[in-house]
Amino acid sequence: MNRVTFTLNGRSTVAVVDPHKRLIDLLRDTLGETGTKEGCGEGECGACTVLVDGRAVNSCLYPAPEVEGREVLTIEGLADSRGKGLSPLQQAFLDNGGTQCGFCTPGMVMAAVDLLRRNEHPTRADIQTALTGNLCRCTGYVQIFESIEAAASATNGGES
Ligand code: FES
Ligand code: FES
Repeated sequence: MNRVTFTLNGRSTVAVVDPHKRLIDLLRDTLGETGTKEGCGEGECGACTVLVDGRAVNSCLYPAPEVEGREVLTIEGLADSRGKGLSPLQQAFLDNGGTQCGFCTPGMVMAAVDLLRRNEHPTRADIQTALTGNLCRCTGYVQIFESIEAAASATNGGES
């Protein structure tokens, strides 16, 4: 077993993990942070997307021991970090029909956070490219793209 110390949503966190454990299992099963969803479990759907040191990763493929010393941001961290409900990006998903069944939403939002941190004013093509690895069975994607565009134009970058 490995002891890992890392920052989760701004809080110093210590956990003991099996060397073969995945980050999604550490988050959901060990730490009870169930906002991150598991779809395919094979790196194909993006439902499990979280940020590690600011970049989007598939937590179903990411070895849990590798978070040692790193910063992990999940969907829970977006709202909590502000202490006043949903982040503007999350609210934009609600306002623009970007979430329906909601299963893909945490991964979509985290992928969008990654995009908007790198590119405050993405084009539709930029958004489509950034979300290539995120699958949605409900929305047809257009409302998701519109949600991200709305957040970007409303807040000069969406997340803040
Ligand atoms: S559950 Fe990780 S990419 Fe599908
Ligand atoms: S909202 Fe249902 S899978 Fe995307």
